[in-house]
Amino acid sequence: MVAFPTETVYGLGARVFDESAIRKVFKVKGRPGDNPLIVHISDMKQLELVAGSVPDRAKRLIKHFWPGPLTLVFHKKKSVPDLVTAGLPTVAVRMPNHAVAKRMIRLLGEPVAAPSANISGRPSATTFESARQELEGKADMILKGEPSRYGLESTVVDCTVSPFRLLRPGSVTLEQLNKIVKVRPMASKAKGAQKSPGLKHKHYQPNCEVLPLSGAEWKKGLIKLIKAGKKIGVLSLKAPVPKDPHIVFSEKFRGRESQYAKKLYSSFYRAEKEHVDVLAVQSTGKTGLGLAIMDRITRAGGKA
Ligand code: TXA
Ligand code: MG
Repeated sequence: MVAFPTETVYGLGARVFDESAIRKVFKVKGRPGDNPLIVHISDMKQLELVAGSVPDRAKRLIKHFWPGPLTLVFHKKKSVPDLVTAGLPTVAVRMPNHAVAKRMIRLLGEPVAAPSANISGRPSATTFESARQELEGKADMILKGEPSRYGLESTVVDCTVSPFRLLRPGSVTLEQLNKIVKVRPMASKAKGAQKSPGLKHKHYQPNCEVLPLSGAEWKKGLIKLIKAGKKIGVLSLKAPVPKDPHIVFSEKFRGRESQYAKKLYSSFYRAEKEHVDVLAVQSTGKTGLGLAIMDRITRAGGKA
């Protein structure tokens, strides 16, 4: 069981065909057994080891986005342990684009099942320090890398339905996908929870309140928190951040959603270190990368 850096978030990997190692991953994370793992591969031969038929439209997505932050769900091969897929007849597969991850999988010579390297329900680790905080003494080894380039988990697309469907938004946007093949937006929460079991569990939550505020609510919202005497952290996409002793740290992303995504989880870990009561986060639009940022922010706030 090895934690390793990827371009999205750090992963906690085990050999996909080693059931006892997979069991340990679930145990160490405290992960519900009905939440399946993503299988990571380093070349197309490894895809054949785990996935049944791969539709031509999926091959077009692969050509455009692999290696990269896109996970595709296929019918699984029998040899993939049910533990990995939580009993589903499908398997989620991703080819990461990160030197350390690629090398590790290539040297091992077989696919690696890996959830994000965090205790279940908590924010994903996007830095070596966060991975270490979550898993030191629990993982056999933690490979050190730079902070993850994208900072949010991969986009997940179900390729077993027609048209394909988005199951989790990520750094590959719905707009980018739809330029290549038709991908439907995420289903409503109730339906999505059936299709992608992970969606129904608590996710991404630091041990402080995460409060999304739109641009229109921003000023009033912050004043209210200040008046209530809260210790506040602030993540601002564009909105101005007032100078006030209650605001103990702030990150300003100057309108750059990619920076917001990259720093989101590390800011959650920072908020915990600074013992803030509330992390006020500016809402984004729900297009492009904004869809993924809003998904994580609302779940982190316990509102999804
Ligand atoms: O970027 C990422 O995807 C990271 C890095 C380490 O690659 N991994 C990651 O894994 O985010 P995890 O376990 O935190 O999230 C896996 C997601 C869950 O929402 C799960 O429900 C979904 O993928 N998933 C896995 N297998 C599935 C399947 N067969 N059908 C539908 N959804 C599946
Ligand atoms: Mg996760």
